[in-house]
Amino acid sequence: MGLRIMNEIIFACLVDFRYFNLESILFATSIREFGGKLANTPIWMFFDSTESSPKSVTENKLNDLRVQLFPYTHEPNQERFPFLNWVFTASLAETKAKSKTKNLAWLSPETLILNEPFDLILQADKKLGFRPVHHTLIGSVITEEVDPYWKTIYNLCQVDATKIFPMRTHIDGKTIRPYFNAGCLVVNPNHGILNLWFEKFKEIFPRPEMKEFYKHNELYAIFTHQAILVGTVISKYDLDEIQELPFTYNYPLHLYHEAREELRPSSIKDLTTIRYENLAVLKNSEFAKPIIEWVNNQLDILNPDISQFGKYSLGPKPLIFPIPISLVGALVAGKPNFETIGDVGIMGLNPPLVYVSSHKEHYTNHGILRNQTFSINLPPTSLLPQTDYCGVVSGKDVDKSQLFTVFYGKLHNAPMIVEASVNLECKVIKEFSIQNRQIFIGEVVQSYIDERLLEKKGDEFKIKDMINIDPIIYGLNNRYYSIGKEIGVGYHEYKKFKPD
Ligand SMILES: Cc1cc2nc3c(=O)[nH]c(=O)nc-3n(C[C@H](O)[C@H](O)[C@H](O)COP(=O)(O)O)c2cc1C
Repeated sequence: MGLRIMNEIIFACLVDFRYFNLESILFATSIREFGGKLANTPIWMFFDSTESSPKSVTENKLNDLRVQLFPYTHEPNQERFPFLNWVFTASLAETKAKSKTKNLAWLSPETLILNEPFDLILQADKKLGFRPVHHTLIGSVITEEVDPYWKTIYNLCQVDATKIFPMRTHIDGKTIRPYFNAGCLVVNPNHGILNLWFEKFKEIFPRPEMKEFYKHNELYAIFTHQAILVGTVISKYDLDEIQELPFTYNYPLHLYHEAREELRPSSIKDLTTIRYENLAVLKNSEFAKPIIEWVNNQLDILNPDISQFGKYSLGPKPLIFPIPISLVGALVAGKPNFETIGDVGIMGLNPPLVYVSSHKEHYTNHGILRNQTFSINLPPTSLLPQTDYCGVVSGKDVDKSQLFTVFYGKLHNAPMIVEASVNLECKVIKEFSIQNRQIFIGEVVQSYIDERLLEKKGDEFKIKDMINIDPIIYGLNNRYYSIGKEIGVGYHEYKKFKPD
C-alpha cells in the first residue's frame, strides 16, 4: 500500500490562463508569504487545456511557488452553462483531495491570503465552511415570503423547510435565507459534497422551469450555481455540520465603499483573505494601500513588456556573479580572527582602494574598528572546508586563530594567511554603516602572492596564470564554484567586434 501524506489543508482553484496569469501568481505568492503555519501546504490550479494554458513565464513562476497544475478537458458536446467549469473542477479537486486532507479550500483565484487563514481548518465534526454572499441580489430576504425561484430550488434539491436558517450579507447588511458565495468554500472532501453539487447542477440548471427564470432575469442564470450549492448542502447536512467563516474571510475589496461605515474593517491588514474582482481594483484601492508595494513587486515579476524579450523577472536581487570569496582578517583581543566574506570589491586604483561589507555584530569588526586595519585573503579551492567554517562560526564562540599559519606585514596588526594565494594588507580610510552592515573602505598598503604562482620575465616577477590563484567563487544560489578557462585579453578583444 502506498504511503499517504495527510495535509492540514489543500488550496485549490480554477484558473483561466487566458486572463488570470498575474492573478494566479498573486494568489499562490500570498499563501506562501502570509499563510503562516499553512504557508507550505499544496496549492492546486485546474485549467481547461482546450481553452488556455499558462504563459511560460507564469508556469515557471508557479513552479517556483510549488503550485501543482492540473489541465482538464471539458466534453465538447456538453451544454455550457455559466459556472459549469467552476462546479465541475470543484468536484475534480474534491475527488483528488480525498484521503489527502480533511480541509479542501476551494477559492477564487482573485483571492489574496493576508494572514494565516486558520478558520479554514474546519472545526471538529464540521463538513463545510462558507461565507454568505456579499450582496442580497437574487437572495431571499428572510422577512419576505419565499419567492417562486427559491421555492423551485428548494423543491428540486429536496430542502427541508425547517432547516432554513438566517444569515447576514456583509455589504448590504440584509438578513437572508442561506445563500453561499461559491468563491470561498472549505469542505472535508471525504464526504463528496462538491461532487453532489456538480451532479445536481447538471441536472437542475437546464430544466425548463429554471430556464423560465433565466428568461426574466439573467442574474438567475449567473447565480444559480450558488443557489444549487445551498440546496445541496442543506438537504444533505445537518446545520451543526456546517460553519460560517468570519467576515474577515473573502472580504470584497471592490465593495469596500458600499458597506456601511461601521462595518468597514479599519485596516486591510486585519483581514484574513480578500477578493478583489480585478487588478485595477486592487491597484487603485485606497484601502489596499498598505499592501500595494507588495502587490506591485509581484506584478513586476510578470511585466509583459519584459517577458516579450525572453526575460524573467526574479524580483530585486543583487545577482552579481561570480563573487570571489575572501577571508577577512583582523586582530581581535590580541588574536587573529578570520571571517568569510563575499561582499568585497575594488573601489579605486591610485591608491588602490577596496571595500568589505561586514555585519555589525561580527567579531572581526571589533578588531577592524580598534586597529583600523584588516586583511583580505583569497583562499584556493583546497581551503574550501576551512573557508566555509569561518563563515559559520564566530570568533565570539570559537577561537579561529589556529586554523591557518599567520604572518604579518608592514602594518604589524593585520593578520594574513600563509596558505591563501593572495593577501591584501589594508588600512581603513573610511567606515560607515548601511542597513546592518559596516562598510570598511581600506587602502591596500601591500599585496602578497604565493611565489609558486610567479614566473621570472627578465628581472621582473609576473603572475604566470591567474587561473592558478584558484579562487573560490560563490553564487547567489549558495553554491561554490571554481574558475573556468582563460578566454581572451583585456582591452584587445574589441578588435574582433565589427559594429555595423
Ligand atoms: C559564503 C559565505 C559568504 C559570506 N559573506 C558575508 C558577507 O559578505 N558579509 C557578512 O557580513 N557576512 C558574510 N558571511 C557570514 C560571516 O562569515 C559569518 O557570520 C562569520 O561567522 C562571522 O565571523 P566573526 O563573528 O568571527 O567575525 C558569509 C558566510 C559565508 C559562508
